[in-house]
Amino acid sequence: MPPAGWRLRQASPEDVEALLRLRLALFQELEPQKTREGGDALVSVTRRFLQDSLPTGRFVAWLVETDAGEAVACSGLSPFDRPPSPGALEAREGYILNMYTAPAWRGRGLARAMMEALLAHARATGYRKLWLHTSPDGRALYESLGFEPNPIALEWHP
Ligand SMILES: CC(C)(COP(=O)(O)OP(=O)(O)OC[C@H]1O[C@@H](n2cnc3c(N)ncnc32)[C@H](O)[C@@H]1OP(=O)(O)O)[C@@H](O)C(=O)NCCC(=O)NCCS
Repeated sequence: MPPAGWRLRQASPEDVEALLRLRLALFQELEPQKTREGGDALVSVTRRFLQDSLPTGRFVAWLVETDAGEAVACSGLSPFDRPPSPGALEAREGYILNMYTAPAWRGRGLARAMMEALLAHARATGYRKLWLHTSPDGRALYESLGFEPNPIALEWHP
């Protein structure tokens, strides 16, 4: 039984290895075959992405740490600046990804706390829209926070 104490904070550039470990655990759970195939290249490009993007704010992340200092959950936000448009002179939007809670810590409100911190950040810094793709596990959480399906969104994959 893990200890009950945990705290949430925004990740800093010093958290690259913790975020990398949690992101790989997320991949291993959701896409085990592709993750195995990704091998060392997946690890190194992910590390490089985090090293480059955390200091600049191109990627914003939150971490939950236990009282023992172990990172057990993470969430992330990729900001996207759209060209201004009528009614939206500042048009920052964001894509939410990398939501993960280690299995032993699930069902204790960690993901909800991370989402609430992320939404508070988005409100405080002027985001006009956030979007995400959900897994079956995450859907109830996102819907309870007001996220809705978008019937006019289209995607293209080369
Ligand atoms: C989805 C995930 C991040 C939830 O983490 P968590 O810390 O256990 O979530 P919380 O304890 O904060 O629960 C938040 C809400 O979601 C609900 N929920 C959590 N897991 C659920 C599940 N598997 N099925 C249905 N509802 C679920 C909870 O009941 C809770 O609702 P409540 O606050 O009204 O009680 C976690 O299950 C996970 O990492 N799953 C694997 C990776 C994944 O699917 N990530 C999401 C990608 S979009």
